[in-house]
Amino acid sequence: MPLGAAESFDDLAALHAALWVELERCVADKAHGWRVATLATLATRSGDSVDARSIVLREVDAAQQQLIFFTDARSPKAAQLRDTPRAQLVCWCPRLGWQLRAKVVAEVLTEGLAVSSRWARLRLSPAAYDYLSPLPPGSALDGTPPTPLPEQRNHFALVRLQVTELDWLGLRSGGQRRAGFDAAGARWLSP
Ligand SMILES: Cc1cc2nc3c(=O)[nH]c(=O)nc-3n(C[C@H](O)[C@H](O)[C@H](O)COP(=O)(O)O)c2cc1C
Repeated sequence: MPLGAAESFDDLAALHAALWVELERCVADKAHGWRVATLATLATRSGDSVDARSIVLREVDAAQQQLIFFTDARSPKAAQLRDTPRAQLVCWCPRLGWQLRAKVVAEVLTEGLAVSSRWARLRLSPAAYDYLSPLPPGSALDGTPPTPLPEQRNHFALVRLQVTELDWLGLRSGGQRRAGFDAAGARWLSP
């Protein structure tokens, strides 16, 4: 997508397709702004507290409208998503001048072929250590680095995000453009 292409969209279907093309690109392109996204969750079931953090988008399935990221199964975000699967992802790409907000329903997977096939690739890389700490994420440290767990006791989890709504905002010098996409259809919105 060339820079400034946002100006050329008059067709909501073409814009929607372009958003998924950019999502697919961001998992392969470490410089793409959408690759590191902000995931917002409810921290408590009652909804009186929220949480947000950066995650790396690892895989995108445009046909299924699904996104995947990896995490430690013991992390607070995994617990929060098990409790309340509805969450929001926010992506910003300075190069495109595009913000994308995605409402998602999350599924935290810790077993099965989808998990074991990803772990089989990951376990051979330095990133495997992210999932081999004996201490859950957020644990207080006494200063001694903990010894990594044996590989078979990893805490790798795959989080699959089913996108239910997209809200796109395109910034340009002549004025902003915004569009919404959900199960009911697509529409231009006042920015
Ligand atoms: C650039 C960047 C990318 C990150 N990617 C991930 C990720 O893909 N998965 C993950 O679990 N944490 C990732 N983190 C760490 C989280 O932002 C967060 O600090 C940590 O996972 C604890 O989050 P939680 O307490 O909400 O579970 C990333 C942090 C940064 C700064």
